[in-house]
Amino acid sequence: MGMKRPFVTRERLEAIAAEHPTPFYLYDEAEIRRRAAELNAAFSWNPGFREYFAVKATPNPWIVSVLAECGCGCDCATGPELMLAEAVGVTGRRVMLSSSDTPEEDLRAADELGAIINLDAPDMVDTLLRALGGRVPEVVCCRVNPGGSFVAESGIIGRPEDSKFGMTVPQLLETLARLRDLGVREFGIHAFLASNTQVNDYYPRLARLLFELAAQASRELGVHVGFVDLSGGIGVDYRPEDTPCDLAAIGEGVRRAYEETLVPAGMGDVAVFAELGRWMLAPAGALVTRVIHEKRTYRHYLGVDACAANLMRPAIYDAYHHVTVMGSEDAPRDHRYNVVGRLCENSDQFARDRPMPECHVGDLLFVHDAGAHGHSMGYNYNGALRSAELLLRRDGTVQQIRRAETPADYFATLDDDPRFSSLARRKR
Ligand SMILES: Cc1ncc(COP(=O)(O)O)c(C=O)c1O
Repeated sequence: MGMKRPFVTRERLEAIAAEHPTPFYLYDEAEIRRRAAELNAAFSWNPGFREYFAVKATPNPWIVSVLAECGCGCDCATGPELMLAEAVGVTGRRVMLSSSDTPEEDLRAADELGAIINLDAPDMVDTLLRALGGRVPEVVCCRVNPGGSFVAESGIIGRPEDSKFGMTVPQLLETLARLRDLGVREFGIHAFLASNTQVNDYYPRLARLLFELAAQASRELGVHVGFVDLSGGIGVDYRPEDTPCDLAAIGEGVRRAYEETLVPAGMGDVAVFAELGRWMLAPAGALVTRVIHEKRTYRHYLGVDACAANLMRPAIYDAYHHVTVMGSEDAPRDHRYNVVGRLCENSDQFARDRPMPECHVGDLLFVHDAGAHGHSMGYNYNGALRSAELLLRRDGTVQQIRRAETPADYFATLDDDPRFSSLARRKR
């Protein structure tokens, strides 16, 4: 079985926790940069390659700034995510609006930023025309869903036919033709067919499918396909026994598909884009929480000061997040615990019957691989407040990049009735 090691020592984490009360998220800048460099190297054979970081995974401008320094653009799904990209100086074609069921105002905001707009459905052409006063942008991307099952070497890894996203292949071709006739000059083709894939052939197989479609569109419709967007979906090794994806092998697999499909079609200038969220950030972030209670009933419970409102993946997907008891990294996992939060929901359990080293009230726990779709999926059920986010800088210093919520934040959106307005000033 592989090992999962925190990116900080117990002593360092205790020192951080002395200044910043638990629970908090901690991100590792060095690891974020290392991952961006690994991805860019894997696709360096494609001069136009760009990662559009999926902002939804970790929508913190400090994190997005680090990624922007590594050459990444932003994949946004909503108006506020577009605002975040603009605030960190990511604009123009370095922004992708990849969304579905998109309101007109988000299309207008994306157009004003000069962003590439990715259309999820044929009727979005009408929405776009209404949003832009009858005009179309020069560049438009379309999201395709080929239906059926998505099969990798290891078997079925996704069921696009059950997914609400994208248009069918005939709809794609019709939409491209319509947009061409409306004056769009350059096209992209996008698909996201499987999530958290743990295999190296997901991207290469998806790429081959999209490259073939791009060649078909160019041949049959005479449209110029400028890029193919492989979107997100590359997974991470959440469990110690998982094998991490090999980005070099993935990049090489996509290159082979490119050489065999696009180059013979005279389309060797097509750029390849990615919109990774999980692979980029999950292992570079952790939820840090302290054990505050212990209870033995039919199970042995460790109550921690974080809850599913801080990290909801275990509660809603039964997702595995490895937990390290700080200071016991190499101790035998000869106890079994349920690690639980305080919500009035039995699903609020970070781990169930999990073999772990002996653990006591006061111990710090490091919940691994929480850097993507972690804090961002947080919510306020039970009046639970969302935690701070901290960034461990390359020089070893720690920067608070988002403060913890206070009751005032929780009450901030209540109507301004004098009976309740004092709540919106409650800091503790
Ligand atoms: C359009 C789009 N792109 C990219 C991503 C990022 O996916 P992942 O975090 O699996 O890489 C998502 C995730 O929901 C998405 O919806």
